[in-house]
Amino acid sequence: EKAGHRHFMAKEIHEQPQTLSDVIAAYVDGDRIAPPVAYDFAATDRIQMVACGTAHIACQVAKYWFEQLARLPVEVDIASEYRYREGPVGAETTALFVSQSGETADTLAALRYAKGKARAVVSVVNVAESSIARDSDVAFPILAGVEIGVASTKAFVNQLGVLLALAIHAARQRGEIDAAREADLVATFRLLPGILAQALATEPRAEELAARLAEASDILFLGRGTMYPMAHEGALKLKEISYIHAEAYASGELKHGPIALVDRTLPVVVFAPMDALFEKTVSNMQEVMAREGQVLLVTDADGAAQASDGVWEVLVMPRVDPVFAPLVYAVPAQLLAYHTAVHKGTDVDQPRNLAKSVTVE
Ligand code: F6R
Repeated sequence: EKAGHRHFMAKEIHEQPQTLSDVIAAYVDGDRIAPPVAYDFAATDRIQMVACGTAHIACQVAKYWFEQLARLPVEVDIASEYRYREGPVGAETTALFVSQSGETADTLAALRYAKGKARAVVSVVNVAESSIARDSDVAFPILAGVEIGVASTKAFVNQLGVLLALAIHAARQRGEIDAAREADLVATFRLLPGILAQALATEPRAEELAARLAEASDILFLGRGTMYPMAHEGALKLKEISYIHAEAYASGELKHGPIALVDRTLPVVVFAPMDALFEKTVSNMQEVMAREGQVLLVTDADGAAQASDGVWEVLVMPRVDPVFAPLVYAVPAQLLAYHTAVHKGTDVDQPRNLAKSVTVE
């Protein structure tokens, strides 16, 4: 049932080109986005996104997409905070809940808080018959299939895929992009499963690097833009399954405190595809190197050509339009965590103290 893989997590990581294709099949029609259920993002003035764990990180990435593409303001909350804060929910606000299981107690309670106050309660869920899906006005399926590994992988990538499709759709509904730009984005979207497969082909190299990460007691993850939440995903996956302490920071925040942690024993993983923010991230990376931090730069061939000097290690990802980079950089986040854990001999599919579905608060 693990299809030749050592763990369900490995199987699920390798399923991602296929599961992302299932999102494309359901959300793309020709050269436009056509979600399987209708929602009018032109009739709302903001989105409150609420979730826990990895699903919360998917929301943090989606904030960049909805704000940049659709010019729609997004607030992102952790469900356990949102449900008790009793914050205002505007009558024109869309309350959007992301959950793989659809049964997470805090997310469900947050949904019930927003219901009746928000313009609509919308969810992005994997389990279609779950409580969260049933209690929503509109439920968008992510179609990842059953996920068994406790650490979420393919569900995270499909959450990203659906949220990106919705952001493009919202941009079009709100008149922020025209049909030609939508067609361009959709054309790139269709290439993504193939690009994920290329990213998966870096596994032997990720495995080699993970053997070195396994010796660390603390690891930092850095990124800017959408790579900032992706740094959080890298740190979360790593601590969950390898039990190594990891933290994520926005690259620009480093000098406001965390740089004090840097010394020659600290691996610092930097997610930096070649994009408009690349040089800014590289200058933060150089600040780490000046303090003898061990930089593992995860970038593409262009980034590697420009910025490999003096870095400890480089992991080269396929080139991709920066809008789509989070889906691709999810793969090294997962592979580094997975192989570090395998190297340490921890129970990858059933990490200590964790449950697949958190139905108590
Ligand atoms: C991390 C992980 C958890 C879940 C979180 C929310 O790899 O799996 O952080 O993302 O417990 O679960 P769902 O999405 O079922 O609401």
